[in-house]
Amino acid sequence: MEKKELMYEGKAKIIFKTADEDKVIVKFKDTATAFDGKKKGEIEEKGLLNAAISAIFFKLLEEKGIPTHFVELITVDEMLARKVEIIPIEVVVRNIAAGSLVRRLGFPEGEALEHPILEFYFKDDDLGDPLMNEYHIFGKKLATAEELEVIKKMAFEINEVLIAFLKEKGIELVDFKLEFGRDDNGKIYLADEISPDTCRFWDSETNEVLDKDRFRKDMGNVEEAYREVLARLQD
Ligand code: TMP
Ligand code: ASP
Repeated sequence: MEKKELMYEGKAKIIFKTADEDKVIVKFKDTATAFDGKKKGEIEEKGLLNAAISAIFFKLLEEKGIPTHFVELITVDEMLARKVEIIPIEVVVRNIAAGSLVRRLGFPEGEALEHPILEFYFKDDDLGDPLMNEYHIFGKKLATAEELEVIKKMAFEINEVLIAFLKEKGIELVDFKLEFGRDDNGKIYLADEISPDTCRFWDSETNEVLDKDRFRKDMGNVEEAYREVLARLQD
């Protein structure tokens, strides 16, 4: 499928139109940002690694009955996807305390959570992606109550599927961020990406960090960690 005009460029991906009204091409970039874009860098081959990793997760989730925007990989770093209207909510699911949960609420880092914690953030760079609750979502008319029920149910289902799959690969799913979109008929799809940029992955044995925290915290060996994740998923 041929790329047409650029529709949208984000920090990690570029979206192009295609000849098919209902499909877009998602190009994964090597650029990495953190802290609302304040920290910038390049992770060599991140684009193709995240495209490959996301494709594996989307295929798995489709097999488990979760509707996703994924159609197919068309080049190493480009994915053909169903065109959806992105709902500007970042849905975070947490299984182990880390990151902002530790900073904001004082959970001990690494504590296994008795029940997964689901959070919503308003996807708005100017506001710094603030945490919000369902009343804020309804107040800003970002999603209806029915849509939010579908999104929450899908997020917890996705969590169960990913936890089980990753455990077999020796990876603990600490937490992750999802984005959803709606098609012209209002059907909700999992969209965006699922990659080491948007998840925390810890080695099950050693707790070694295998995700973007290596970039955020200047831990080194960032590309190696992303490569390791892909290699384990392909195993
Ligand atoms: P947090 O602990 O910083 O709130 O992050 C929770 C999860 O969400 C973590 O897996 C990283 C992911 N995430 C994103 O994908 N994009 C973001 O902008 C942020 C802040 C987190
Ligand atoms: N992607 C976000 C940013 O660029 C934050 C993050 O992933 O840490 O600021």
